[in-house]
Formats: sequence, structure tokens, C-alpha cells
Amino acid sequence: MPTVIINDVPMEARLGERLLDVARRNGAHIGFVCDGTAVCQTCQCRVLSGAEYLNPPNEAEKIWMPEQRLNDGNRLACQAALRGRGTVQILTTVEELRRQTLDVLAPPPGESGVNNLGPLLEHWLRLNVDQLAHFPFNIIRTLNRVGPARFLFPWQDVSAWVNDGVRAAAATTRDGGPSARAPVELPQPPSEARIRAALREVEAASRETARRRGV
Ligand code: FES
Repeated sequence: MPTVIINDVPMEARLGERLLDVARRNGAHIGFVCDGTAVCQTCQCRVLSGAEYLNPPNEAEKIWMPEQRLNDGNRLACQAALRGRGTVQILTTVEELRRQTLDVLAPPPGESGVNNLGPLLEHWLRLNVDQLAHFPFNIIRTLNRVGPARFLFPWQDVSAWVNDGVRAAAATTRDGGPSARAPVELPQPPSEARIRAALREVEAASRETARRRGV
């Protein structure tokens, strides 16, 4: 059985499974705003090892990411699937940014928060420059690829999307998240009642959108 190490946490996976599916099942810290449609780019991750056990980057990834970014090992977790039984290790972009932010706010002993600001800003800037590199053709080609309806409303299963998002947020905030270098004061996760209420609101909005589209 393949193993995927996401943000330093080993997880069992199935052959053919997408990295995003493994991450969501295990409540890993990863973005999936567009529910895996390759529109939002929040599931970006850096493959640290085991790239040979993944499918090569596909068209959806090439639409958004410059060649150099792909060559540096960056992938969309919603497009990268397991095709070998080896171990794949990745660091999600949202987690890398979170760790870099922690290094600024609560620097490890002997380090300076001001000095750690440079790598954070550089990472954030590179991310935005790379996103803009293909604009507006990335938008046009994605619209052609998925169609306007899916582009504007990409969520297939709103309940699962909300539940997985809440689990990932809770796991990330608990104890400062995986591999946190220093404990920090973080807000408490929302209560179950609040989560259920938010879920009901999202489901109602989803039904309303589907009704307007005549689905
Ligand atoms: S989940 Fe949105 S691009 Fe992968």
C-alpha cells in the first residue's frame, strides 16, 4: 500500500488516489476551495520525495503553473494521483506559509522574527508572480476546460466539503498544528452547534443555486 507523508504526518493511501483525497480523508492542512476542480490553486504542494510515484503534471496544472514552478516539484494535489507503491512526501503550500508565519511571530530559539520575514515575503511574492504569469489565459483556458457553471460553482458535495474543511481547520489549530515549532495562542475551534448551523446555511445556499440553474 502506498504511503503519503503530508506535512510530516504519514498516511496510508490507495493506488490511483489523488493526494488531495488522502489529505482530506486524514484532515491534513491543505486548501481545496474549488473542491478539486483545479480552479482555486489552494491545494498546491511541493513534492519533497517520491515524485516518480505520481502521474506527471497534466494540462490543468500547466494552465496555471509556469514550467519552472512545476520543475521545482510543485503540484496541484487535486491533479496528482498515486501510480506507484512507494512513499511520497509533500509539504502543502498553506502549511509552508503557516510555518513561515510562525517563524516570524514566534521564532525558534536563536532566530530573529525580522530575519524570518524575508523567506515568508519571498514565498508569498513568488506564489503571486507565478499565478499572474499566465493571466488572463489561465482563466480563459480553465473556463473552456470546466465550463462556466462548474467554474462559478465547483462544489460537488457541499456537506463533505464543509465537513472536511472543518476537520482540517480543527486539526491544524489543535496544539499549534503538525510540527509546530513553538506553541502559540490560537483561537478555539468552533463548537459543533456552530459548525452544524454553518453547514445548514451552506446547504440551503447550494440548493438555491441548483434551483436557479434548474438542476
Ligand atoms: S482544490 Fe482547487 S485547485 Fe486543487
